[in-house]
Amino acid sequence: MGKVTLDNITDIVISSLGQNGEIDSRQREIMTSLIRHLHGFVKDVRLQHHEFLAACDYLARAGQTCDDKRQEFILLGDIVGVEVLVDMLTNVADGAESESTVLGPFYRDNPPVLPKGASTVQKAFDTQESVYFEGHIRDAEGNPLAGVILDVWEDAPNGLYENHDPDQPDFNLRGRFETDEDGHYAFRAIRPVPYPIPSDETAGELLRFMGHHPNRPGHMHFMIAKDGYRTLISQIFDSSSDWLDNDSVFAVKDSLVGEFVPAPGELGTDLYVKFDFVLARATAAASLAAE
Ligand code: BEZ
Ligand code: FE
Repeated sequence: MGKVTLDNITDIVISSLGQNGEIDSRQREIMTSLIRHLHGFVKDVRLQHHEFLAACDYLARAGQTCDDKRQEFILLGDIVGVEVLVDMLTNVADGAESESTVLGPFYRDNPPVLPKGASTVQKAFDTQESVYFEGHIRDAEGNPLAGVILDVWEDAPNGLYENHDPDQPDFNLRGRFETDEDGHYAFRAIRPVPYPIPSDETAGELLRFMGHHPNRPGHMHFMIAKDGYRTLISQIFDSSSDWLDNDSVFAVKDSLVGEFVPAPGELGTDLYVKFDFVLARATAAASLAAE
């Protein structure tokens, strides 16, 4: 190995890959590109040693912030638009199926299994507006899909998800529903309000470093799954919400904006949202993502 210089350091590191143990072609592809981009960035900004140490300290503190309720690295990825980018590369939409968007850090598996039309609300807030959500889930050819499992979750009117709020019951505003034989789903919930993503700790430092606000527009989360189909992770955004054009995690897509309209009297809720979803077959989805 020759002596390192500013000009040859990148190639020297790349050519060292696999020198002491086998690595597969994907590992080589990822590490080659990562080293090239990382070295390019460091040269571009002429990163100084005190800045490098500050970055190491920052990442160490980000790690210390993580526990079973907080995944700081997802948040950091969201703030710089990486989660939505990875999502678009993973779940390539060919036009027929519904668009996906970020999962975010607040999903919990195994929410209460509820019958069609039931409510996810366990604790009422004075300011809440009740909403009846319904729609059909179909395949790309328009056939209704029965037995589709929908997990839904949202924040409370105080802007907090239940697992970040000791005053809410466990699994409040979360539920698991299933489509009927017509591919129809329905549930009752409340209007999701805009909220700030956690902006204490290192996520907040990054937001301030970028001169960003922490706010997200009101949205209902969905995870929609059926064997043989690509699991759709998505959100419905309230068309009249603040921050729709300026989401702190860049997750809004035009096709995911829904109208919260006054509900017909017989539904017994304040508002009504109709939103259909189209699922891609798992095989079709895998070949699109590989292209
Ligand atoms: C969310 O929608 O729950 C979320 C997404 C990204 C970052 C923080 C929160
Ligand atoms: Fe959310």
